[in-house]
Amino acid sequence: MIVLPGESREMAHAGLACRTAEGVALICSRAEAEGLEILESPSPYFEDGFAVRDPDGHLICFGKAIAESGEHEGIHGPTQHLTFASLDVERFVDFYHGKLGFALSDRVLHDNGTLATAFTTSNHEHHTIACFKSDRTGVDHHSYEAGEWATIRDWCDHFATQDVQLMRGPGRRGPGNNLFILIEDPDKNWIEVSAELEVI
Ligand SMILES: [Fe+2]
Repeated sequence: MIVLPGESREMAHAGLACRTAEGVALICSRAEAEGLEILESPSPYFEDGFAVRDPDGHLICFGKAIAESGEHEGIHGPTQHLTFASLDVERFVDFYHGKLGFALSDRVLHDNGTLATAFTTSNHEHHTIACFKSDRTGVDHHSYEAGEWATIRDWCDHFATQDVQLMRGPGRRGPGNNLFILIEDPDKNWIEVSAELEVI
């Protein structure tokens, strides 16, 4: 996660790493064929990168990850997924599934048949980018991989020593079946720590 000066609860950009430059080029040519404008990736962590803007204005970067050097302090794990809040979940599906080619892995419907939540994935896990129907546009939450329950427990203990309250959890989500806790950071961003997300 990179923190930049800006509006509270605004996402500057998100990045998805591909294993190879060929993989990046494949997504780029698909995006181009779908008529998307190909933009420069601002990510300092990617080479051979590009970016597209989704219908809600989020800048989404793809690239080959530059290998990190050095050890990090504290409990750490990779970013697992990103979840948007949107006025229009159908449009989200059309973009991420229809245009970029993410798999549509799960959906939650309102009683009237419209989408309450859509889950899309770009790897073996249940979701990498999801979208919740909302009365606002932005990020709902982003989530970090803990690997297993014991590490979530350690996070809970760590948050207790720092007087960080859990907003929700520990518990298990419905779609994705993952163990989770949710906290709010000082900028009111919702942060999830997650484990055992369903593999599909
Ligand atoms: Fe989540």
